[in-house]
Amino acid sequence: MVEVTNQAPTQVAVDVLILPLTEGTPAPADVNEALGGLCAQVVGADFKGEAGETTLLYTAGRLPARKVLLLGLGKAAKVSNRSLRRAAGIGARAARSSGARSIAFALPSAVEMNPAEAARFVTEGALHGLFRLPDWKSEKKPQPEVEVVQILGGDEIAPGVEHGRAVAEGVNLARSLAWTPGNHLTAAKLAERAAEMCRANGIDVEIFDKAGCEKLGLGLLLAVNQGSKEEPRLIVMRYRGNGGQGPWLGLVGKGLTFDSGGISIKPTEGMWNMKMDMGGAAAVIGAMQAIARLKVKADVIAVIPSTDNMPDGGSYKPGDVIAGLSGKTVEIHSTDAEGRLILADGLAYAVSQGCQKIVTASTLTGAANIALGPYRFGLVANDDAWEEEVYQAAEAAGERGWKLPHDEEYYELLKSPVADMTNSTRNRAAGTVAGGLFLMRHVGGTPCVHMDIAAVAWKNSGDKYEDEGATGAGTRTFVEAARRFAEGGR
Ligand code: BES
Ligand code: MN
Ligand code: ZN
Repeated sequence: MVEVTNQAPTQVAVDVLILPLTEGTPAPADVNEALGGLCAQVVGADFKGEAGETTLLYTAGRLPARKVLLLGLGKAAKVSNRSLRRAAGIGARAARSSGARSIAFALPSAVEMNPAEAARFVTEGALHGLFRLPDWKSEKKPQPEVEVVQILGGDEIAPGVEHGRAVAEGVNLARSLAWTPGNHLTAAKLAERAAEMCRANGIDVEIFDKAGCEKLGLGLLLAVNQGSKEEPRLIVMRYRGNGGQGPWLGLVGKGLTFDSGGISIKPTEGMWNMKMDMGGAAAVIGAMQAIARLKVKADVIAVIPSTDNMPDGGSYKPGDVIAGLSGKTVEIHSTDAEGRLILADGLAYAVSQGCQKIVTASTLTGAANIALGPYRFGLVANDDAWEEEVYQAAEAAGERGWKLPHDEEYYELLKSPVADMTNSTRNRAAGTVAGGLFLMRHVGGTPCVHMDIAAVAWKNSGDKYEDEGATGAGTRTFVEAARRFAEGGR
């Protein structure tokens, strides 16, 4: 669906030719000339080039392209990988709304980004914006689809386009998993979907059912699963991009297929949304697909503990004390702080498999939204250097995180009089830090960075760039962290 073409804008025969322009930059001279000066009339007047602005021009047979879409990138100095991706998504969707089945992107000229890099983010944005999440409606309405996306440029942009495609397909896989209703995506089904992805991409996969989890001693995952009619799963994927000799990078994701809160039940309002509480797991699965398709030269082990969290006569309860795989005991203060419990076992398992470094993602705390809003995810870590590496990986991948503190004092929030730690602090102070540091207590000394994606994994309304729902947050950072790990960031 995406292809590179070395045709000029004046040659390419598509429904819509998209010209990304920064503020104050004229359209390419040859296009303007072919259109009899139309672009020069519109640019600077009706079309200012503001970020996300679009103006559609009809070519009236003067160009092989039926229409030209002027696409604003904003001020040249402010164009980033992120803003370019966003603009490309907006442009692709605007073209689709105008009925286009084939589109072509010219690459922006007045921006400081090498062409392969620009092509990567344009591809990523187009495929992100055009992606349709699945639905379960009984009547399928035929929807107009863009079938061909061309990127104009020479051979040097092909690796960028491939990169953008692999990442976008990983993100879109994550989006569709996190969007899927809890009854359609139980832990067993999530494991099947992961296994399918692994088989298609040459990744080894091992799945532990309930008995397997018992044998491993995943006491915390099993406790959260106690109130459920569904079996839990531990999903383990191994990608041997460095020959399987290690060092191993661990990716761990929260696979909570539905979070009712359990005995500490959540209010009705918004509870439906908790089908997305496996957004971290979805990001891990999407990232593993992209890592394999990009042939990243790293050995990567992915671990996903998965269950739902339900109230029942058999449920685990506030006050219970439970030991997990790390051997540490936990006093349950709220059954709604379940994510850190299952992740503690997932992380301890990753450590037991010999990971050198770990990155983990989860929709862990509502407090992430209080601290940072839906703009950046929270980073909590036990190692400054590895945290900086993951922070930079996020920036390079066009995602945004923010480092939260991990001073010794914060560990006091986790104190319990009866167990090694409590799963939920007694007040709301530093909720995201407390959640993250709880995880750090289950990795021994292994450098570990946690992304709390609770506030960025879901959008309540769609916009010009993407549809409402799951965003695939974390996927891109995982992929970039693996690339850096391969390059010696390990
Ligand atoms: N899955 C939720 C966190 C969440 C909230 C994700 C909103 C996405 C949107 C998590 O399991 C949870 O319930 N966390 C509690 C922790 C508290 C009990 C310490 C929370 O944030 O209230
Ligand atoms: Mn919860
Ligand atoms: Zn949860």
